Amino acid sequence: MAEQAGTLVVSRTREELAAARSGVRGTLALVPTMGALHEGHRSLIRLARESADTVAVSIFVNPLQFGPDEDFDRYPRTLDDDLAICAAEGVDLVFAPSGSVMYPSRPQVTIKSGPMGAVVEGAARPGHFDGMLTVVMKLFQLVRPDMAIFGEKDAQQLAMIRRMVADLNVPVEVMGAPTVREPDGLALSSRNRYLSAAERETAAFLSTALRAGADAVGAGPAEVVRAARTVLDKAATADPPLVMDYLVLVDPSTFVEIDDAGYTGPAVLAAAGLVGATHLIDNLPLRFAPPELAPPESAPNEFAPPKES
Ligand code: PAF
Repeated sequence: MAEQAGTLVVSRTREELAAARSGVRGTLALVPTMGALHEGHRSLIRLARESADTVAVSIFVNPLQFGPDEDFDRYPRTLDDDLAICAAEGVDLVFAPSGSVMYPSRPQVTIKSGPMGAVVEGAARPGHFDGMLTVVMKLFQLVRPDMAIFGEKDAQQLAMIRRMVADLNVPVEVMGAPTVREPDGLALSSRNRYLSAAERETAAFLSTALRAGADAVGAGPAEVVRAARTVLDKAATADPPLVMDYLVLVDPSTFVEIDDAGYTGPAVLAAAGLVGATHLIDNLPLRFAPPELAPPESAPNEFAPPKES
C-alpha cells in the first residue's frame, strides 16, 4: 500500500505508482532526483508547482549512471529528510522505488547517448549518459508526466534529455531551472556534503573561474577560456588542490567545442574537477554578441529637426 504523509502520497512500487497516477487530474510535472534534496531541488519543485496542477518527485539513486570507481555506494541516501522537504514544498506524489523495482533484471535494451554523450562530462565518465537517459526514459514511461524539470547545473544532461525527447518523439515538455548557488558562488549539489571545510574552500574556485571567464565575454572565446584557466591554475596549487577534468566552451545544444574566434551566439562555459574524492561540475551560460554596427557617418537623419539658419 502506498504511504500517505499529509496529502503527500509515497509510492514504492510500480503498482502503487500506477494507482496514484490514475487518480491524477489535469497536468502533471515530474522532478526526477537522486534524493539528498537541497535548495536547488526546492527551486525545481517550485517551478513544477507553478507549471502544473500536480507535482511528482522521483527519488532513486540510479546504479546505471555510476562508473565502477564512482560514488554509488556512498552517495547520500536521506529519504526521511527528502520526504519532509517534499511535504513542505507541497509535492503531491513521491515515487521512491528500490533498485529491484526499477531494474527487476539487468536491462539489455538501453538508451544510447550518441556523440553528445561521449564528449565533455561523457568523456570523463564513460557510460554515464547512457545510464542517465535510460532511467529518465523509464521514469517518463512509469510516471507519464506532461512536463519534467531539470537543473541547468547539469547543462549537458539537460541538453541530452532535450535531444532524446526530440529524437524519440517523447511527449514530455522538458524545462530547465537556473542553478542555485551559495553566497560565494559554489553551485548547490548533493555531493557538496562530502566536502571537508578545507575542500569546501577549494571548491569555490570552480565558480570563481567560470565568473572570470564570463566577465571576459566581450573579448571573444579564447579570452573567456584563458581568464577561467588563470583562476583554475591557482586552484591547482591550493591545499587541497582542485584537480581539473576539463574546462570547455561549448555550443549549448550540441556540446561541441567553440574554437571560432568570430563566434556569435549562445555558449556554455563548463568545468569539472576533483576536490579530494569529490567530483564537482559547474557551468555558466554565455552569449557572444556580434560587434556593434557603427552608424554610417554620412547618413542623413531624416528625423532630425531642421537646422536653424
Ligand atoms: O540529475 C540527477 O539527479 C539524475 O541524473 C537524474 C536526472 C535524476 C537521473 O538519475
